[in-house]
Amino acid sequence: MLPNILFVVTILLSFFCVTNASEKVPVTVYYESLCPDSRKFITTQLYPVLQTNVSKWVNLTLVPYGKSNHTQEADNEWKFFCHHGPFECHGNKIQACALHEIENSVPTPSNYAFNPVTLAFINCLMNKTSKSVDGYDFPIGECAEIANVPNYVSIENCANHTVGSTYLAALGEETQQFQKPLKSVPTIVFNNRYDKQESTDAGNFFNQILCKYITQPLEECHNQGLTLNASLLLLTLIFVHSLF
Ligand SMILES: *[C@@H]1O[C@H](CO)[C@@H](O)[C@H](O)[C@H]1NC(C)=O
Ligand SMILES: *[C@@H]1O[C@H](CO)[C@@H](O)[C@H](O)[C@H]1NC(C)=O
Ligand SMILES: *[C@@H]1O[C@H](CO)[C@@H](O)[C@H](O)[C@H]1NC(C)=O
Ligand SMILES: *[C@@H]1O[C@H](CO)[C@@H](O)[C@H](O)[C@H]1NC(C)=O
Ligand SMILES: *[C@@H]1O[C@H](CO)[C@@H](O)[C@H](O)[C@H]1NC(C)=O
Ligand SMILES: *[C@@H]1O[C@H](CO)[C@@H](O)[C@H](O)[C@H]1NC(C)=O
Repeated sequence: MLPNILFVVTILLSFFCVTNASEKVPVTVYYESLCPDSRKFITTQLYPVLQTNVSKWVNLTLVPYGKSNHTQEADNEWKFFCHHGPFECHGNKIQACALHEIENSVPTPSNYAFNPVTLAFINCLMNKTSKSVDGYDFPIGECAEIANVPNYVSIENCANHTVGSTYLAALGEETQQFQKPLKSVPTIVFNNRYDKQESTDAGNFFNQILCKYITQPLEECHNQGLTLNASLLLLTLIFVHSLF
C-alpha cells in the first residue's frame, strides 16, 4: 500500500516539475547605488548574464536600498540615512524612479519578466557614476542615451521630488520585510528562498547559480533539463521499489 501511495505522490511531483519547467526563476537583488560590491556584481555578473538567452527565464526584481534606513517626518516627507552617505540616497532614488518611469515610455517586452531597458540604464549608472568635487555625479543623461531611455527628464524630476522618496521608502519596506537590517550587500535571492552561501556564490558566479534553477535546455547552462532528469530518475526508482 505504502509504495503505491509513494508512486502516486511521485507522479504528481514530477508532473509539477514538468509544468514548473516553463516558469521563470524569481531573482531578487538587494543592493546599494554606491556600494563597490554591488557595482561589481551588476556590471560584471548580472548585466552580462542577462544579455544572453537565460534572460527570458528570469523574473528579476531590483531593490536599490540596502542597509539604509528611513523615517517619516512630521510634514510627511521621508528622511533617509544611507550606508554610503547622502549621495547614495540620491543615487538610490534615481534608480527607484527609473524602475517606475522607464516602464511608461518603454514597456517590458511580452516575453520578458523584467524591463531590459531599465536594467541597461541601471547597469550604466552602476558603471559610470563617479566622484565629483562636492560629492557624486550621476550621469543620467549619458546613461539614458546609452540605454535608449527617451524620458530621462521624468526620472530626474521624480528623484528630485517627494515621489522619488515615496518609491525609495517602498523599496525600504520591501528590504526590511526580507531582512532587518540587511546583513550583506548585495544579497541575491533565487526562487524567493534566501540561502546565504548561494547569495555569496552568486556574487561571483551568477550564471552558475542561476542555471541550477533553470530547467530549460539552454546552451548557456550546458544543461539538458537536469531537474526533469532527476525527477524521472526518482520516479523510476520508486516505480521499481513499488514492484516489490
Ligand atoms: C539610521 O541610521 C543612522 C546612521 O547609520 C543611525 O544613526 C540611526 O539611528 C538609524 N535610525 C534607525 C531608525 O534605525
Ligand atoms: C514575476 O514575479 C512577480 C512577483 O514577484 C509576479 O507577480 C509576476 O507574475 C512574475 N512574472 C512572470 C512573468 O513570471
Ligand atoms: C565600466 O565599464 C568599463 C567597460 O566595461 C570597465 O572597463 C570599467 O571598469 C567599468 N567601471 C566600473 C566602475 O564598473
Ligand atoms: C534635479 O536636481 C539636480 C541636483 O540638485 C539638478 O542638477 C537637476 O537640474 C534637477 N533636475 C530636475 C529635472 O529638476
Ligand atoms: C538563443 O536562442 C535562439 C533561439 O531562441 C538560438 O537561435 C540562439 O542560438 C541562442 N543563442 C545562444 C547563444 O545560445
Ligand atoms: C540526464 O542526465 C545525464 C547525466 O547527468 C545526461 O547525460 C543526459 O543527457 C540527461 N538526459 C536527459 C533526457 O536530460
